[in-house]
Amino acid sequence: MKVLVTGGLGYIGSHVTTLLLERNHEVIILDDLSNTSLSVLNSIENITQKKPFYEQINLCDAAAVKALFDRHNDVAGVIHFAAHKAVAESVAQPLKYYHNNIEGLLNLLDLLVPKKIPLLFSSSCTVYGNADELPITEHHPVKAAASPYGATKQMGEQIITDCCNAQAGFHAILLRYFNPIGAHTSAQIGEAPQGVPQNLIPYLVEAAAGKRPALQIFGTDYPTPDGSCIRDYIHVMDLADAHIVCLAHLLEKKQTSPTEIYNVGSGKGHSVLEVVTAFEKATGISVPTKIVGRRKGDVLQAYADTTKINTQLGWKTKYSLEEALRSAWAWEQRRNN
Ligand code: UFG
Repeated sequence: MKVLVTGGLGYIGSHVTTLLLERNHEVIILDDLSNTSLSVLNSIENITQKKPFYEQINLCDAAAVKALFDRHNDVAGVIHFAAHKAVAESVAQPLKYYHNNIEGLLNLLDLLVPKKIPLLFSSSCTVYGNADELPITEHHPVKAAASPYGATKQMGEQIITDCCNAQAGFHAILLRYFNPIGAHTSAQIGEAPQGVPQNLIPYLVEAAAGKRPALQIFGTDYPTPDGSCIRDYIHVMDLADAHIVCLAHLLEKKQTSPTEIYNVGSGKGHSVLEVVTAFEKATGISVPTKIVGRRKGDVLQAYADTTKINTQLGWKTKYSLEEALRSAWAWEQRRNN
């Protein structure tokens, strides 16, 4: 099947692309290189020994996106990753986020909806906000967004749902990711933040490598067993596999409703301090840390109830937290070399 992957050279998109190629899908990557580089394409080719079709396009360029679809009029499905994703930046530059994330999605939908090309959308557990109940099921109410980034995910979900309801035969799956971490088992692709990493694992590995000062632990006074925040960390390889399973579900027309929503996480909650300890145990490398105050906007705890995707689609995780952390370290070492 021919599959279009927007943002296919980004962190999650590149891992999904390798799996698609390994499953013999024909892949078209659309990426504007705003947060990645062309070297990722070479790495994908090295891993898979296959060459995906690539075009440097920004989804906000409606004419260019239409021209791409005109050239590839047999696209069977689309996986949409291309979006800005830095929470703090979105607070400082909301219009950048609304323009890019919403306009890009609208341009894509303009082409997909009339042709009824199914869509897999990367959403986020951020839509649940500070959860009322744990673990979080898909029935948990969507809370007011804490950032423009989060708002674009909520709006994206709503826009897609409205399109599915309006156009019979147009189907979509919304995947609510928890915290993706780690890198490809080959260590040839992984998360490559530009500048100072904002997320836990990218900063942790750079601190462990001596490239950054101590990892700041944002708060140890939360009402959790060790006082630090709890998250659901999922190996990016497991997350990528969930996309393959969902895409098959869409392409085989097995959906029971026009829009289906699935949580994708490990189902386990780990505190920040537990993650640091697990990293040190998994790699034998110690991480310099410094306890500082809370980070504005952090939720106390979030971990998924994954029963729905486990039972309805037969997907489950294969990798442990330790394996994910080891892979993140292997990737960091390779980047440094
Ligand atoms: N943390 C630190 N020090 C750091 C970085 C993070 O202690 O240097 C802590 C945070 O306070 C939080 C945990 O590590 O408790 C995880 O933080 P991340 O920034 O890695 O991830 P978040 O859970 O804040 O954010 C992630 C995604 C967002 C998404 C959000 C949904 O990065 O895109 O989950 O909750 F919106």
